[in-house]
Amino acid sequence: MTINQQDSSPMQSSIDTIHSDDTTEDSIDITHLRTPIKVDLSPVYNFLGDRTTQAWVDAAMENLPMIIQDHANCEKKAAGTAMNLMFRYEFSYDLQRKLAQLVREEMLHYEQVLGIMNERGQDWAYLGAGRYAKGMLKHKRTYEPAAMVDVLIIGAFIEARSCERFAALAEVINDDRLAKYYRYLLKSESRHFEDYLALAQSLSDENIDERVAFFKNVEADLISSPDTELRFHSGTPA
Ligand SMILES: [Fe+2]
Ligand SMILES: [Fe+2]
Repeated sequence: MTINQQDSSPMQSSIDTIHSDDTTEDSIDITHLRTPIKVDLSPVYNFLGDRTTQAWVDAAMENLPMIIQDHANCEKKAAGTAMNLMFRYEFSYDLQRKLAQLVREEMLHYEQVLGIMNERGQDWAYLGAGRYAKGMLKHKRTYEPAAMVDVLIIGAFIEARSCERFAALAEVINDDRLAKYYRYLLKSESRHFEDYLALAQSLSDENIDERVAFFKNVEADLISSPDTELRFHSGTPA
């Protein structure tokens, strides 16, 4: 018996339990993921100005390989955006720590989606970006710290919308493993939305409510207006 085992207290064993669960959560192999039974999505739904239409869900179901490919692209972009922010804004410990965690988690999601593609026998295919992120970023203010605050608010909307769409897809998808994986993502993506929003407020001298309300309208319009390209974050199929 090791010294650690002799000394193990109830507190120590609860820490061990947390660690072993964390390892399970971090698995690249999606069969080893713990899927939360229920994640409260009401903050996500309240934050967003509009819900995904049935027409988008139907189109996504008919084009699932394309949605999976775009999801892979989104995870990679989410990690890249967080990494860019880490290099651009180096003054805040809080920002660096949250962004480092984001990069790690988004890269894990990317690996997991690649695993799903591999499992389904789906080849990698080039897929250009849709209008969604550009449609918000074109409203980004051009001076600091307003530009940084806007990027963080936009990040919050992208994460919240991803969460809302994973929940919508998980309800109807005819593939238990994929539905389970989308439900697993709800927990981290809803936390990412809250992290981005909290960072935006904590790094801004002014109250960000007005800016959040502005992007809420822009984002809802991109989601509810007709869109000729189907993507994970596209509007209503035109
Ligand atoms: Fe992600
Ligand atoms: Fe995320």
